[in-house]
Amino acid sequence: MLGIIGGTGLTRLANLQITHRKVARTPYGEPSGALTFGRLCDQDVIFIARHGYGHTIPPHAVNYRANLWAMKDHGVDRVVSVATVGGIHEALLPGTLVAPDQIIDYTHGRETTFFVGGDKPVTHLDFTFPYCMDRRAALLRAAANAGIGLRDGGVYGTVQGPRLETAAEINRMARDGCDMVGMTGMPEAYLARELELSYAAVGAVVNWAAGRGGSAEGIQMEDIQAVLGEVMLQVRHLLEQLVTDEAASCPAP
Ligand code: HPA
Repeated sequence: MLGIIGGTGLTRLANLQITHRKVARTPYGEPSGALTFGRLCDQDVIFIARHGYGHTIPPHAVNYRANLWAMKDHGVDRVVSVATVGGIHEALLPGTLVAPDQIIDYTHGRETTFFVGGDKPVTHLDFTFPYCMDRRAALLRAAANAGIGLRDGGVYGTVQGPRLETAAEINRMARDGCDMVGMTGMPEAYLARELELSYAAVGAVVNWAAGRGGSAEGIQMEDIQAVLGEVMLQVRHLLEQLVTDEAASCPAP
């Protein structure tokens, strides 16, 4: 089953026919909110709002482990994660959707592994390619089928937040090779790898990163709000096409 993690601007899926909600318990504490079970274009999906349904949980305080564990525990084997990002690369202007293919992790102090404590052996997993190739390909196909622009690839620099960056920090990130900046890409992607979930992300660019393009003089929250609604509408269409494509490629027996 597909799991969808919604970020800022996507605390619910308008076309999801909700069947029930469940407050899940995990060995890692409580997820960001109840799991929402429902049907999207006739396919079963589980949805969770990463920042809580009232958008009250900041990026550094999200229980990434509990969210993913709860999803897997309830039958999710593949995950699409939606996150707003700031555009660093000149092609990533506000309103763009992007499927990142790489990550640089600048976060700290977050719970980054399930392999901790008790008698769990230390485990190092390959993370050369942080996103599942199949899931990315499915997203790109769905975008093409729906006529939605989805940029293929880019380096997602994940910062701690909740503050936005300085212009100098963004310049450094650009020198590091980051194309976009967001606050929730990690440890989510790595934890998904530990749980062997097929995981990919959609970045919704809602502003120029600090000091770039239209943010040369600073980032205006009203500008972000003006883009957010429209770009999340595109994300919803993309997700609907994704599940429709999946249904078509595995017809009922
Ligand atoms: N920086 C960090 N996270 C973000 C941004 C940004 O500019 N925009 C959306 N999420």
